[in-house]
Amino acid sequence: MAFDLLHARHETPGCENVLHFNNAGAALMPKPVLDRIIIHLQMEAEIGGYEAADRSHDAVEHVYDSVATLISCNRDEIAIIENATRAWDMAFYSIPLGFGDRILTSMAEYASNYIAFLQVVRKTGATVEVIPNDEHGQISINALRNAIDNHVKLIAITHVPTNGGLVNPAVAVGKVAREAGILYLLDACQSIGQMPIDVNVIGCDFLSATGRKYLRGPRGTGFLYVRRDSMEQLEPPFLDVHAAQWVAQDRYKLRPDARRFENWETNYATKIGLGVAIDYALKWTLEAIWSRISALATTFRAQLDLLKGVTLWDLGIERCGIVSFTIDGKSSKEIVHTLAQQSINVSVSTLNSTRLDMEARGLTELVRASVHYYNSEEEVKRFCAALASVL
Ligand SMILES: Cc1ncc(COP(=O)(O)O)c(C=O)c1O
Repeated sequence: MAFDLLHARHETPGCENVLHFNNAGAALMPKPVLDRIIIHLQMEAEIGGYEAADRSHDAVEHVYDSVATLISCNRDEIAIIENATRAWDMAFYSIPLGFGDRILTSMAEYASNYIAFLQVVRKTGATVEVIPNDEHGQISINALRNAIDNHVKLIAITHVPTNGGLVNPAVAVGKVAREAGILYLLDACQSIGQMPIDVNVIGCDFLSATGRKYLRGPRGTGFLYVRRDSMEQLEPPFLDVHAAQWVAQDRYKLRPDARRFENWETNYATKIGLGVAIDYALKWTLEAIWSRISALATTFRAQLDLLKGVTLWDLGIERCGIVSFTIDGKSSKEIVHTLAQQSINVSVSTLNSTRLDMEARGLTELVRASVHYYNSEEEVKRFCAALASVL
């Protein structure tokens, strides 16, 4: 079935103002998401925040069903958390690690995750080891398999890196983790909403995600998936009156579900907005979204490739909607600034966010142009023409 691009654009008010290729930064929210957030905020102002939350109880609860449908898990395996980093942290810092324990990760790992590894390594005497890439630039499954021994306590990788089109083979990694009985934490911040994700197919114990990127939700939203079997062995690093119950003066009892990773106060308007964004994506279907994004990104890469002076840097066998490139003789910041003057949004990926990968490839910065299903072929043409004039 043909993708109804006109409809997608019609429901995206931002399309009238900007050529938005910064979907890996934050995508443009569709109108139903925006409307629902405003309705809740208005209700908070009119009847009170606690009262508005009570009145929206069903909508808030529905967010857990939406996430569960999105990634094929149970609603009690979901915690709604304010961003992907904190969701990831809540899982990572729950895992008991000690001297001699090994953490395996990938070259594409995101800075915040790696900083957390370094902190835990310093505090506990555990080690973090980076599995090299294969000849396609994605995590080598053979090298991962060869690295497994009894001391490996965690495999934590990034599905889609912050700085390019690579899609790491998350399912193959999951197979290794399952066979060896090792905990597996997947950072799906950049892949969620972009492609179908099924935690049972991937075989991960934890998955962290954000709302504002390919899911097109509001900023300051995210979630954590925790497999039920793994949850029972883990105590979150922080607890509060929502995560646990103070049952006696010297005792508390953890919540039985994944909400033990949440905390009490939250932004109800954006939480509901996240649910609406997920339902909106599910209506399009993740299969249709992925196929549209892949096709548009392929066209985009082909057109960029024709421009003299442009070098594409995307790795991997399968490539997603995040297209990264440099331009001879121009800094990425300069390109982003020049395009912004024409209401074209892209962003810069710096060494700081994926140091392992960028250093290995001798890169210091990249232009990151990330397309979504609501972007058009005409926008791709316009973008390339704008770039050609910079060249
Ligand atoms: C791969 C990856 N993981 C995690 C994050 C952090 O997400 P958040 O800003 O929602 O905490 C990002 C942000 O760009 C990212 O690219």
